[in-house]
Amino acid sequence: MVKATSIILMQEAKSIRDVDIRNKRILIRVDFNVPMDRDFNISDDTRMREALPTINYCIDSEAKSVVLVSHLGRPKSRSTDFSLKHVIKRLERLLNKSIYFADSIESAKAQQDSNQNQIILLENIRFYEGETNNDELLSKKLADLCDVYVNDAFGTSHRAHASTYGVAKFASQKVAGILLKKEIDSFAKVMHNPLRPLLLIVGGSKVSSKLSLLQNVLDVVDKIIIGGAMSNTFLKALGYDMQKSLVEDNLIHDAIRILELAKEKKVKIYLPVDIVSTDSIDMPKDIKITPSQDIPDNLIAVDIGPASVKLFSEVVTASQTIIWNGPLGVYEIHQFSRGTFNIANAIANTYAFSFIGGGDTADAIDKAGQRDNMSFISTGGGASLELLEGNILPAFEVLDKR
Ligand code: ADP
Ligand code: 3PG
Ligand code: MG
Repeated sequence: MVKATSIILMQEAKSIRDVDIRNKRILIRVDFNVPMDRDFNISDDTRMREALPTINYCIDSEAKSVVLVSHLGRPKSRSTDFSLKHVIKRLERLLNKSIYFADSIESAKAQQDSNQNQIILLENIRFYEGETNNDELLSKKLADLCDVYVNDAFGTSHRAHASTYGVAKFASQKVAGILLKKEIDSFAKVMHNPLRPLLLIVGGSKVSSKLSLLQNVLDVVDKIIIGGAMSNTFLKALGYDMQKSLVEDNLIHDAIRILELAKEKKVKIYLPVDIVSTDSIDMPKDIKITPSQDIPDNLIAVDIGPASVKLFSEVVTASQTIIWNGPLGVYEIHQFSRGTFNIANAIANTYAFSFIGGGDTADAIDKAGQRDNMSFISTGGGASLELLEGNILPAFEVLDKR
């Protein structure tokens, strides 16, 4: 079972509604890591829309200034491909307000000092080297921007980075935003005596950060469906030749361990029995559907095949609670989206409680036209999986308690 105590501890975090923010400088860590197409058009702005209640609450409560801090993607260095300038227009439209875009912390500070009632969006915080290694100096600089630090980035709450974790050490008040509260309360409701069988569906491409989590959810779930790039590592662990597919070779041992442990704990794991593969993801000329054991030479696995859809749909239909993170194929490309969309349809047709997590998974559900047929869509993928694992997430850990 998910440890109820860790959920209760996270629910005890002080909320932005518990403190006086009038005339205060507010820094909000948001998660604007939204899916975009090649031309930087935002394909799903759920994470931005979900951040609006907290931002609007600050505006309505007459905060002195609001600095929004987020990451976008996993940039190796400063590059326009990962610039948050791509989200400004959408944000201005959603807030119906102009935004000041600060390309550095210093520029955000100068703007904050010279203008009242300003909404400032800071450039991608991961352009700072110190962000992901939770650097003290960067944490201090961020804390200097605010009287009240607000974390509303549920999608990033499993990361102990400078803007999600370190900053809290130096901020005088640190509280949860409205989204962070909503997410943890919703998760608590789902996991309080869930109807069973409880099925977890995992896919997507963030294999290294998610695969090891599976070991710890074996005590919580009854069945696991694995698809997407995640299943490639498991199929390779079974001895299949995955050809040019994305495989994490250094995790094969972990995958084997998870399969063994699942057997011991009587948790059923379902892997794709057939695979759609291609010569190129962006410009496919050759597309094949084969059993998972027979991926043709030099091809890349990009979706689950029709037999897997049938098998997985039956598992979905027999479940009463479904938690899903990670698309089952490269759903952004029409030819490789069918597995993901068909499973979204299968979930929509059940009476099960469906909890969907993850930026791309939510986008895929939307593209499948099934958003309204899901019970709850969370903005966090990895974060939801870590909650399921029973962890106290770092971002919650550092907030003031009620
Ligand atoms: P989420 O954002 O929902 O947490 P992830 O970010 O982990 O999900 O994964 C989403 C990405 O996984 C998508 O961009 C999708 O194209 C990719 N993906 C899914 N299946 C595969 C595959 N077989 N090979 C490569 N990428 C894949
Ligand atoms: C996500 O999309 O899962 C969050 O924004 C966290 O991103 P990260 O996995 O790059 O830390
Ligand atoms: Mg993603």
